[in-house]
Amino acid sequence: MEKETNEKGTPRIYRKAKGQIVVEGDVNLTDMEGKPIKHGKRFTLCGCTKSKDMPFCDGSHKF
Ligand code: FES
Repeated sequence: MEKETNEKGTPRIYRKAKGQIVVEGDVNLTDMEGKPIKHGKRFTLCGCTKSKDMPFCDGSHKF
């Protein structure tokens, strides 16, 4: 299994080919007003704009 953080303990964020943005590590995700959005230590954000569960990826990028 890959490490969730780099040597400095900072989160790792990367984009996959279909638009998914994978976030691993300890981060604070909020909406535009700063209201916290509940998430786990590893989650995937939608980068394709097709998700019905924004800001998270729901697999709609596959279609
Ligand atoms: S990246 Fe948009 S639904 Fe998965």
